[in-house]
Amino acid sequence: MTPAIATTLEYLCPTPHRPHTWMYAPPDGQPIENADYTRKAVTIHDARGTATSLAHEGYTLRRAATALDDFHHKENIVQRYYPEMAQLALAVSGASEALVFDHLVRKRQPGTPQAFGRIAGQRPGAAGRVHCDFTAASAQRRLRIELGERAAQLQRYAILNLWRSIRHPVLDAPLAMCDARSVAAGDLIASDIHYPDRTGEIYQLLHNPEHAWSYFPAMTRDEVLIFKQFDSAAAACYTPHAAFEHPSASPDAPPRESIEIRCLLIYA
Ligand code: OGA
Ligand code: FE
Repeated sequence: MTPAIATTLEYLCPTPHRPHTWMYAPPDGQPIENADYTRKAVTIHDARGTATSLAHEGYTLRRAATALDDFHHKENIVQRYYPEMAQLALAVSGASEALVFDHLVRKRQPGTPQAFGRIAGQRPGAAGRVHCDFTAASAQRRLRIELGERAAQLQRYAILNLWRSIRHPVLDAPLAMCDARSVAAGDLIASDIHYPDRTGEIYQLLHNPEHAWSYFPAMTRDEVLIFKQFDSAAAACYTPHAAFEHPSASPDAPPRESIEIRCLLIYA
């Protein structure tokens, strides 16, 4: 095990307003955001050598090599990589159906990871603000989009991310994971993210000294970090996460390149 890392992560400051962020030039000269964010001290532990599971921490790591070597073409990813990740999601969760609905390829930009990993028009980089990709409401909305009327008959559904390095071992900007059980309901603040074509709802996080942070050092491209975004059958189902600059990375460490898959799980 490598020593724990003392660093900072970006959290939401308490605010009386519902936070929102414009991912493009906001109308009427409004500011990009209506809330403040601040870096808080955290200790990020090495999760290797600790038994982790989706049911407890909300995240886990699996060795799962991929047959895909070129992640730069969307058709390849959808046709060849989605089925691989649906298989893996089923194997790790015991769900009866896995529907991959989204992916994002990132490359770290120079400097401290940006809040959302990009500003208008840029390629997505590492995302340094603590967040959860879905709220209870946006998970439900996604379920409806994927399943339509069938959504009403389900016993249980969940949403997972499957995250992999697509080039080198990740040395410079790993993804830190917060143990789902260390999150209090009041830490999760529903927030709007405005894109040109839609508005998404995510959780921003208020700082809580109970948050238990870990990461998997030097993830290779044969490993997948799997984490829960939502689970209709579990109260501790939100796994906040954020990228951080690794203090031991050499300044010329190759920029992290990664792909994350979002997957809906259905339990019969
Ligand atoms: C994610 C995510 C950030 C990053 O996979 O949901 O927020 O820097 N990733 O990879
Ligand atoms: Fe995320």
